Amino acid sequence: MPLIIEKSLAGQRALVTGSSSGIGAAIAVALAEAGARVAINYMSDAEGAGEIVDQIQALGGEAIAVQADVSQEDQVIAMFQQVIGTWGSLDILVNNAGIQLDAPFVEMTLKQWETVMAVNLTGQFLCAREAVKEFLRRGVVPELSCSAGKIICNSSVHDIIPWAGHVNYSASKGGLLMFMKSLAQEVAHDKIRVNAVSPGAIKTPINRSAWETPEAEADLLKLIPYERVGESADIARAVVWLASDASDYVVGTTLYIDGGMTLYPGFREGG
Ligand code: BGC
Repeated sequence: MPLIIEKSLAGQRALVTGSSSGIGAAIAVALAEAGARVAINYMSDAEGAGEIVDQIQALGGEAIAVQADVSQEDQVIAMFQQVIGTWGSLDILVNNAGIQLDAPFVEMTLKQWETVMAVNLTGQFLCAREAVKEFLRRGVVPELSCSAGKIICNSSVHDIIPWAGHVNYSASKGGLLMFMKSLAQEVAHDKIRVNAVSPGAIKTPINRSAWETPEAEADLLKLIPYERVGESADIARAVVWLASDASDYVVGTTLYIDGGMTLYPGFREGG
C-alpha cells in the first residue's frame, strides 16, 4: 500500500540529506511516490542509500545516491553540482541530516559539541544556501509549482522542549528554529518557501534505546498523549504536503508531529 497516492510533485526534483536510513529514507520514498525524482544523500552508508534508490526504482520512480558530508562546504557544493547537473535543476531540498552525540553536561567534549553543531546547524545552512542560489537562478516554473523552490528543515520537538543530557542537540535544534524562520522571512519575496517539521519520538536507529524494550517504550509513552510512538511515515506524509502546492501559503512555520509531546503531558493531572 503506497503512502502517497496523489502525484502532487510530478516533474519536480528533490534532494534529501541523510536519507540512507530512518526518517530521511521514508521522506525520500514518499517524495518519489508523489512523483518527484529524488537524490539520496548519505555520508558513509552507501549500501543503505543504494537500497533506497532500488526501492524507489522498484516503484517506477527515479533516484540517484550522492555522497557528501553536509558539514563540509566543498562536499556540499559538489553534491549540488552533481544533482543539478543530472536533472537540470532542483525544486525541493529536505534538510534532514542530523545526529545526536549525548553526554552529561560536564562530560561533554568540545568535539561532541562542535560535531553536532556542524551537522545539525551548519549542514542545514550550507545546503540551504546552495538550494536558494539555484531557486533564484531559475525562478518560478508555473508548470511545476507556484513557488520557485521549497526547503523543509527537519528539526525536533527539542527546538522548544529543553533536554537534559543532550545540551548540544537541543541547542542545535533551537538554533535551527530561528535559522528556518529568518531564512523564510528573507526569501519569501523570491517565492521560496521555507518551513520545518519537528518530529517527536519516532522509531528510528537514533533513539532505539528509548523504544526497544517494553519497559523503555512504556516510559516513553508517558510523554506522548496520543499513546503511540511515531513512525517515519508520519513525518514523510507531512513533508510531501509541505513540498507541494497544497501548502502554498505556509511560510516559515514549524509543524510539530509528535503525538502531542509538546503539550506538556505532565500537566494532564498536575499543575
Ligand atoms: C530525538 C530522539 C527523541 C525525540 C523525542 C528527537 O529529536 O532525536 O532521540 O526520542 O526527539 O524526545
